[in-house]
Amino acid sequence: MSRIFLSPPEAGPAERQRVLAAMDSGWLAPAGPDLAAFEQEVAQVVARRYAVALSSGTAALHLALLVHGVGPGDHVLVSDLTFAASVNAIRYVGATPVLIDSDPDTWNISPGLLAEELEARRAAPPAAAILVDLYGQAADHHAIAPHLAAHGVVHLSDAAESLGATYDGSPAASFGETAALSFNGNKIITTTGGGALVTNDATVAERVRHLSTQAREPVVHYEHVEVGYNYRLSNLLAAFGRAQLADLDRRVHCRRAIFDRYVAALGTRAGIGFMPEAATGRTNRWLTCMTIDSTVAGCTPTAVREHLETLDIEARPTWKPMHLQPVFAQCPARLDGTSARLFASGLCLPSGSSLTPSDQDRVIQGILDVMEAHS
Ligand SMILES: Cc1ncc(COP(=O)(O)O)c(C=O)c1O
Repeated sequence: MSRIFLSPPEAGPAERQRVLAAMDSGWLAPAGPDLAAFEQEVAQVVARRYAVALSSGTAALHLALLVHGVGPGDHVLVSDLTFAASVNAIRYVGATPVLIDSDPDTWNISPGLLAEELEARRAAPPAAAILVDLYGQAADHHAIAPHLAAHGVVHLSDAAESLGATYDGSPAASFGETAALSFNGNKIITTTGGGALVTNDATVAERVRHLSTQAREPVVHYEHVEVGYNYRLSNLLAAFGRAQLADLDRRVHCRRAIFDRYVAALGTRAGIGFMPEAATGRTNRWLTCMTIDSTVAGCTPTAVREHLETLDIEARPTWKPMHLQPVFAQCPARLDGTSARLFASGLCLPSGSSLTPSDQDRVIQGILDVMEAHS
């Protein structure tokens, strides 16, 4: 039996055909017709005017902060429960992250705590807020946007995990001034590594293109008046991404069906819960996140994960909150214990769109066995 991975990439003949066609076209550079087409297609899927394809989602977050003028001395509000990249980008520009805890009903940044933090910083408001769409569920953008606007705070969206999700009838990544997407290998679609910044603002898109290609001035010789970056996605990877993007709806359907199957098999067990879906939207269920109340279930998330590992099944703890990370432990934070609780009880289960029903049965049986053994 082969190993079952958490969220492996899935690709087939369509990707192969696109990549070979791109190779045959001769556009073996960080420019070309597939890159332009991929950007248009990404923009269309997330209902934005512009997409700029980049080498990673982290690069998109970095440039989003730069083009919105965030820099040294600034503070940026950000979800405490997220992957480190959301917060690393704030440090890249020399700003200070302010970590905000989660809403237990959505696991996303708490609108109430965020409003409290804005009130407390009324005299010197933060420059920006990065709202992370956690595990494929869009943050409560409409509840938060008026607070940000009232304090003059730039609204940025980290939609690295939420491509294909919706919120209030609109696509994830269509909220805020700009949003960052990730096409990392573990995401719902991949370019084997890549990302995009999406926006409705032509000036922002143009500046991101400029900064991502070493900020080269439009003259014949190599002229630079500011520091640039080599953050552009290549034409070949964009070709791969086009085939992936065309398959997005099916992938969302698969991941949601996988989630439903886990819930049907495990959801009635005492002490077992799953990440809730907010009434405001439709998550892409990028990863199925289970919670285990060990005092009721009799076993810990660690015991379940370690047992699954003996069966060659990859499961992972939910993100370790940023305030518990040594590198960010000194950051200002507004916490109420929710993210720490979700970390202590959470477990991400294999959720890839290529997971077969019999693979999933293996995972489910493994979890039932370990729970039985501890009961
Ligand atoms: C919430 C979040 N933000 C940002 C990123 C960074 O994306 P990338 O790996 O493409 O740099 C990721 C994933 O890796 C993520 O999960």
